[in-house]
Amino acid sequence: MIAYQALQSILRDAPKTWLVTGVAGFIGSNLLETLLRLDQHVVGLDNFATGYARNLDEVQTLVTPEQWARFMFIEGDIRKLDDCHRACEGVDYVLHQAALGSVPRSLDDPITSNATNIDGFLNMLVAARDANVSSFVYAASSSTYGDHPGLPKVEDIIGKPLSPYAVTKYVNELYADVFARSYGFTTIGLRYFNVFGKRQDPNGAYAAVIPKWTAAMIQGDDVFINGDGETSRDFCFVDNAVQVNLLAATTADEAARNQVYNVAAGGRTSLNQLFEALRHALADNGVRYDKRPIYREFRAGDVRHSQADVGKAERLLRYVPSHEIQAGIQAAMPWYSRFCTMGAREIRAMGKPDHVRYDL
Ligand SMILES: NC(=O)c1ccc[n+]([C@@H]2O[C@H](COP(=O)([O-])OP(=O)(O)OC[C@H]3O[C@@H](n4cnc5c(N)ncnc54)[C@H](O)[C@@H]3O)[C@@H](O)[C@H]2O)c1
Repeated sequence: MIAYQALQSILRDAPKTWLVTGVAGFIGSNLLETLLRLDQHVVGLDNFATGYARNLDEVQTLVTPEQWARFMFIEGDIRKLDDCHRACEGVDYVLHQAALGSVPRSLDDPITSNATNIDGFLNMLVAARDANVSSFVYAASSSTYGDHPGLPKVEDIIGKPLSPYAVTKYVNELYADVFARSYGFTTIGLRYFNVFGKRQDPNGAYAAVIPKWTAAMIQGDDVFINGDGETSRDFCFVDNAVQVNLLAATTADEAARNQVYNVAAGGRTSLNQLFEALRHALADNGVRYDKRPIYREFRAGDVRHSQADVGKAERLLRYVPSHEIQAGIQAAMPWYSRFCTMGAREIRAMGKPDHVRYDL
């Protein structure tokens, strides 16, 4: 953690201005929390497509009033170039997280995923370039490895995309690279591998596996496994992703800029193993779940195995994962236990639309 610790004290001594798009979402709100705790100035942009005002409210409770005063929220849409220009004004670093995630969502509605993830991405690139920001770090995705069977995944060997979502994330990389070459602009892509942690939405048809199963177990519902359960993933605790964002945005190493990096813990966990790990972690938090999982069809567009080689980020960004999957699950469980036992009304009250009061 040496590079990351050093960076944190540099940032505390000389605060910068960061734009976090998708700030009301899972990863965005974790970035916001870390940046505010480091006394940074943060502009946040979100249209609440899949994010929640309650995530911003929660961050407010976790930082001091002085730190919270350094946050300016813009309710806006990356599909509108004017909103992007406005958000980029006076910003040093952009951490672009806003997108429509989820492979199945993109299969159900490829047009909206394309508009947000490609048109919106291009708007953000143009606005960040025009604002002369120092660097543009963006959320890429492990889905870019597509049908390539090689393991572990190394950044320069990819296959064909298996979903519209994967296409959009690959196009992001192509655009970012062209902007770097054409406009002398610094872009860094972070291929996240199944990030998990607090504030990841457990609800809705497109919820990710860890929050979805955790919520189901807490509520005593059935847990469904797509396929035989031997599908595997490199689950990455959100603090690791936050660390790489900050290291990437601020790197002074020319060789580290204009690159894409795997962001993961470098492990591989099958869905069957994940089921047991969650069950045990919940038991440690006083929640007993004795049902067996229900196996059903494999899901279209899913890759079979995924595991990252994180050597490039370790070498060039001096990334040191702070949490392996077990430690991450332990860290996330208390939040899920609390959130999933709240009543629906309590949750709604945390993030009802008229609660949005940050647009300054
Ligand atoms: N969570 C993962 O495992 C994972 C894996 C790979 C890539 N990613 C990428 O990381 C980023 C963040 O994902 P997340 O898991 O935090 O998802 P999330 O859905 O919690 O956050 C995305 C945020 O973007 C906002 N947004 C969507 N469309 C927008 C628009 N048109 N204008 C402004 N804001 C908009 C949403 O409201 C939401 O707050 C996304 O780009 C996603 O594709 C995530």
